[in-house]
Amino acid sequence: AKEVEENLRSPICCIMGHVDSGKTKLLDCIRGTNVQEGEAGGITQQIGATFFPAENIRERTKELQANAKLKVPGILVIDTPGHESFTNLRSRGSNLCDLAILVVDIMRGLEPQTIESLNLLRRRNVKFIIALNKVDRLYGWEKSKNAPIRKTMMQQTGDVVKEFKMRLNRVQNQFQEQGLNSMLYYKNREMGETISILPASAISGEGIPDLLLFLVQWAQKTMVEKLTYVDKVQCTVLEVKVIEGHGITVDVVLVNGVLREGDQIVVCGSQGPIVTTIRSLLTPYPMNEMRVTGTYMPHREVKAAQGIKIAAQGLEHAIAGTALHVIGPNEDMEEAKKNAMED
Ligand code: GTP
Ligand code: MG
Ligand code: NA
Repeated sequence: AKEVEENLRSPICCIMGHVDSGKTKLLDCIRGTNVQEGEAGGITQQIGATFFPAENIRERTKELQANAKLKVPGILVIDTPGHESFTNLRSRGSNLCDLAILVVDIMRGLEPQTIESLNLLRRRNVKFIIALNKVDRLYGWEKSKNAPIRKTMMQQTGDVVKEFKMRLNRVQNQFQEQGLNSMLYYKNREMGETISILPASAISGEGIPDLLLFLVQWAQKTMVEKLTYVDKVQCTVLEVKVIEGHGITVDVVLVNGVLREGDQIVVCGSQGPIVTTIRSLLTPYPMNEMRVTGTYMPHREVKAAQGIKIAAQGLEHAIAGTALHVIGPNEDMEEAKKNAMED
């Protein structure tokens, strides 16, 4: 398509925050799915990945009348658990993303894993925005399904607006205590210095158009260099899983380059380097969560950025969180193995 003239890949956006702040529900709202209700105890316990194609984003942001020029093919969103015991998964997510959404429950403000996530992002220098979720829980909130936030704010009573401002203010003060300036995104003129706050509801969808449009426009405006597609494969293993009909598979995030069926790969394993050949490359359908076992689309090749399930022999000892390398035709096998184990 002509729109991809700059050859940008999709940005990879990690969604992080305290347990039950509504990360998965926000993604459900955008996908039109019900992943969260299927989780044991309503708790996310794995990293997930969902690809949102540009067409869907355009459709969801129509009401903002942005006629947005979308230069990226879509966004790949990485869902992470907020429960305190999954610091390693939050760290893995924050390691491979280009940008992030830090979700805060407007009724609860900053919580321990909000601060932990914030510090992971700062340590890795990842730019992020704040989604101030659950605005529908403000007392007397008038729902307006999937409406842009400013439009919906104009329909609220004075009391609702007052409570909103009071809670917003409290959250801003809490971020200030962490050394961060933050401001409602449509008032923020110092992007980068001051973190943008996007109010939203994962239940009634207010603010979702703003969130999607902001992410895409921000990424393609300020991260062109980072998002320019390169051929060199950059790929991280997220999870190792047994999938009925496919045997042992690894879920990976392909950040750059292309993976092909039949590629010889090397992965870091607990018992030494694993050299194997890609038997099949599977992706979930667009707008579907990779960690939900369902039907996958098979591909001959997949171009970054994407979440991919790879089936190959000998993957049972693969170590999640490490890099997957493709061995080129002129590459030295021993060298490749050594590199793989350095992760
Ligand atoms: P973990 O992944 O376990 O850390 O939680 P999470 O951040 O993904 O939160 P989750 O999506 O599981 O939502 C937690 C609870 O909050 C669920 O009961 C949701 O229905 C509820 N919830 C999430 N977002 C909203 C919202 O915008 N409004 C309201 N009223 N409830 C919400
Ligand atoms: Mg979740
Ligand atoms: Na939860």
